[in-house]
Amino acid sequence: MVASRLLPECAGPVPAAEGVSGAAARIVIMTDKPIAIASDHAGFQLKTLLSAEIRALGRGVLDLGTDSQDSVDYPDFAAAIAQAIGAGRAERGVLVCGTGIGIAMAANRHSGIRAAVCHDETSARLARQHNDANVLALGERLIGSEVAKGCLRTFLETEFEGGRHMRRVAKIDSSQTA
Ligand code: RB5
Repeated sequence: MVASRLLPECAGPVPAAEGVSGAAARIVIMTDKPIAIASDHAGFQLKTLLSAEIRALGRGVLDLGTDSQDSVDYPDFAAAIAQAIGAGRAERGVLVCGTGIGIAMAANRHSGIRAAVCHDETSARLARQHNDANVLALGERLIGSEVAKGCLRTFLETEFEGGRHMRRVAKIDSSQTA
């Protein structure tokens, strides 16, 4: 389970609590990083709803746009999420477009990003347990808001199982070709 603690919007790493040091302090900082979220115009309404849900779960939100339903290009927002995660400004990310497909494809071109398109809580759970997905991709035009919220909660609360999956995920991360 992730640590539940109310954080301000766009919160970055939070200093460890007084008296906590070493490994424990590092864990506090890791789990308090915000969740980055971004969408294109077709995912804007669901992004707004999911941002509120992330806050309701006690996590900070790093909202990287878009800010309206005016037409934009989803690869730009996938890149913003990849940059935030790569720079350590966010622990995980959520991307929304019309289907979840294009924005996940774009995100997966970035080193270190493992974006999973999910349509139900089972796929969200397995994306974390087996694939250590660090980005959840959802399609506003394909799934309802309650299903999307369930995917989000599951994605945030499920840990990677490690073990045999560790080797396979390492192969994904090392298999980028020129
Ligand atoms: C935008 O019309 C739509 O193509 C986009 O949101 C997404 O579904 C692409 O994969």
